[in-house]
Amino acid sequence: MRLFKYFRNIIKFVKFGGITTLEITQKTGYESLKGLKIVITGGTSGIGLTVAKRFIEEGATVLITGRSEQKLSEAKAKIDSSNLLTYLWDLNDYNQYNNHLKIILQKTSKIDVFINNAGILTNLNEKNNQLEDWNAIFNINLKSMYFNTLWICENLLTKNSIVKVINISSMSEAIYEVDPYNISKSGISSMVKGFAKEYAAKGLIVNAIAPGVVATKMTNLESQTNAYRENNPSKRNAVPEEIAEFILFISSSSCYYLQGQTIFIDGGESIR
Ligand SMILES: NC(=O)c1ccc[n+]([C@@H]2O[C@H](COP(=O)([O-])OP(=O)(O)OC[C@H]3O[C@@H](n4cnc5c(N)ncnc54)[C@H](OP(=O)(O)O)[C@@H]3O)[C@@H](O)[C@H]2O)c1
Repeated sequence: MRLFKYFRNIIKFVKFGGITTLEITQKTGYESLKGLKIVITGGTSGIGLTVAKRFIEEGATVLITGRSEQKLSEAKAKIDSSNLLTYLWDLNDYNQYNNHLKIILQKTSKIDVFINNAGILTNLNEKNNQLEDWNAIFNINLKSMYFNTLWICENLLTKNSIVKVINISSMSEAIYEVDPYNISKSGISSMVKGFAKEYAAKGLIVNAIAPGVVATKMTNLESQTNAYRENNPSKRNAVPEEIAEFILFISSSSCYYLQGQTIFIDGGESIR
């Protein structure tokens, strides 16, 4: 039997030019997260901060970024762990993304999972300059994500290493409106598919999460108050913890075959 398999592999190699061997080494639960190095953009509040906290509880080291030194210090005080590192980085400074990412890598020494989480909402109600709105939204929600992911592909993918990139989209990507927020988020699905196609063979695992309405600063909702939401089939909004739990799962060794996908965690609200 072994000899048969050996020859079958040789025929496969000659015919198709490659052999892929699999080694399934799943550890139970979140054990595999211990010792991982995680980077989260926009980790000072909401989903990013909750994800950071959960990773640290599971023994990972996390670096969060944010625009304000004060908010970074507050986050540090809230999590209170030497496994939490912080880095001041306004993602609008995308011309310098190379340098920022190099410094981050020096601080963490390696990156196993990079979470492009920072995002902003459109300020349409204020009737701002629409061009300014568009640029502000796209700079943070899509452009920074693209260049961070590209940098990872060009600098971190080495033989025998896997880097996971998780991009935080939104169910708004499936809700078609004349709103730069929705449009920027829908670009993420196409982006993760493109990166997956091009870089999966080199060790990149890239996916997106599309949450529904989550109780954070962005939505002005508190997890502790009434979570009722009429438009949602599940009749409620989400709390950051349930988004965090899914991010932990796809970062763990239980999830190596999810590639180029956008997963909606929205209680069914985007179903049309
Ligand atoms: N909450 C929801 O209902 C919901 C639903 C779907 C998707 N999402 C997405 O989830 C992600 C996190 O949102 P959230 O709800 O957790 O909101 P949040 O509490 O407002 O957090 C946003 C984070 O992004 C950071 N950020 C914003 N602009 C930045 C910039 N120019 N440079 C660096 N960091 C910047 C903020 O950091 P500083 O303010 O400290 O700079 C903050 O840490 C976003 O991508 C959002 O679009 C949220």
